[in-house]
Amino acid sequence: MEWMWNYVVWSILFSLMPLAWHLRKNSYRRSKLPPGPRGWPVIGNIFDLGTLPHRSLAALKQKYGPVVWLNLGPVKTMVILSAGAAEELFKNHDLSFVDRFNNDVMKANDYNKSSMALGIYSPYWRTLRRICTAELFSNKRLNETVLVRQKCVDEMLSWIEKEIEESATGEIEVKKFMFPAIFNLIGNLTLSQDLTHPNSKMASEFYTALSGFSVCLSSPNISDLFPWLRWLDLQGLRRRTDRELKKAMQIISGFVSERVKQRQHREGRATEHKDFLDVVLDYEGNGKDEPAKLSHHQITIFLMEMFIAGTETTSATIEWAMCELLRNPESMKKIKAELGKVVGVNKGLEESDINNLPYLQAIVKESLRLHASVPLALPRKAVQDTNFMGYNIPKNTQVLVNVWAIGRDEESWEDALSFRPERFLESSTEYKGQNYQFIPFGAGRRMCPGLPLGHRVLPLILGSLLHHFDWKLCESVSGEINIDMRETVGISARKVVPLRAVPKRMAA
Ligand code: HEM
Repeated sequence: MEWMWNYVVWSILFSLMPLAWHLRKNSYRRSKLPPGPRGWPVIGNIFDLGTLPHRSLAALKQKYGPVVWLNLGPVKTMVILSAGAAEELFKNHDLSFVDRFNNDVMKANDYNKSSMALGIYSPYWRTLRRICTAELFSNKRLNETVLVRQKCVDEMLSWIEKEIEESATGEIEVKKFMFPAIFNLIGNLTLSQDLTHPNSKMASEFYTALSGFSVCLSSPNISDLFPWLRWLDLQGLRRRTDRELKKAMQIISGFVSERVKQRQHREGRATEHKDFLDVVLDYEGNGKDEPAKLSHHQITIFLMEMFIAGTETTSATIEWAMCELLRNPESMKKIKAELGKVVGVNKGLEESDINNLPYLQAIVKESLRLHASVPLALPRKAVQDTNFMGYNIPKNTQVLVNVWAIGRDEESWEDALSFRPERFLESSTEYKGQNYQFIPFGAGRRMCPGLPLGHRVLPLILGSLLHHFDWKLCESVSGEINIDMRETVGISARKVVPLRAVPKRMAA
């Protein structure tokens, strides 16, 4: 009888061994994970995110240090909160964390599969990245398109002048002009075509679709917490994303179809000038380590991403910079003086002036430091199990780099929360991905490819607004403390209450 008991006991022990091994391995792994707040069963740390995740996550650094671990439902997440940890990530582990992490709404209609910004690190991604870097953002292309940007900025200034003439109070909503101006600029750079004006139905439809998409991106989604419920799409966020993206895609797809028709009419006759869309339509790859052709759908998404990524970020940054200057009259006085001295009162600002305007460049940097328009960058994903700063980070972990918190970290910045452009006059700190305390465009392989365009356009637009007009706050918000600086985050961090101000044309 005893041998039978022994047999049963040993059989049970043997059958439990894989489970014990698995538990031991997991507990070993857990013990080597970064520290973080204890979560709730199933939902984990969802409530630790709050309504503005970049702010809530920044606050965790004090208790848990620069690398924090969270379980967001089933999604394992590592958060980077200091310049030192960002440097370690981008310098030594960039390839291990090079994929993008996509939540449920990003997968609507398989959008992420044709996307460059949300796509995995693949030959398709490399092809798109190469094309836009060479054809839109290279120094050569940017030098060729100086006059196009100047024309778009001049148009924006005349839209504002017209609005002042027609308005009883002289007040304008700054965003109303920024968004269409940058939309038009990207239209000119990619399609060689004027697309819009401030009251254009198309720009406002595109903006409305993006705002809807933003809401979906920023809403907590039950499908992310309980993947087995995904198919039900209980809050309808996936359906809504699909709807909004389709509206935006319809607009862009219309431009692509129009161009295809024009090219058919030309019947093979060469054009004098090939623009970005022509290059993308003509693209032919070897079909092995790069795609053979790009489909109409892929081209539409590629183009649309240039509009989405470029318009929101750039227009939000300019609006924040205007707010800071209106709250800081000393800085406003200094920049007006610099523009008057370098550009002169009877002349408009040109791109070639920017190198001689250090205070203007410092204002752009200081605004990006305090108001990173993509506060958590775009989420990355661990491609493989990785030992990172002594922690064992499992494959598929989501990685959030809190560029907003890093830009405001007291350990890296003196008087970190004050708007003080002078700090950049005294240092050579740049946002080009090498100074890890200041990475509003990200860093590493997935760093923003639009940086060279942003680098030219941000000071050009901001400087032109400041040089062309004198600005003051509306009666209703007069005084420093009254500008509502609250932000809301979707595609980018935007003001909750759009800035309204009174521009007055400078005497010629
Ligand atoms: C104020 C201006 C801008 C800011 C602050 C900004 C910021 C960023 C950030 C933080 C990322 C993620 C980087 C990372 O993961 O390390 C990004 C990615 C990206 N940005 Fe920008 N951006 C700006 C302007 C633009 C413009 C003008 C364009 C194009 C017209 C653009 C296109 C993109 C694209 C396509 C990606 C995805 C890159 C990839 O995943 O490979 N951005 N941007």
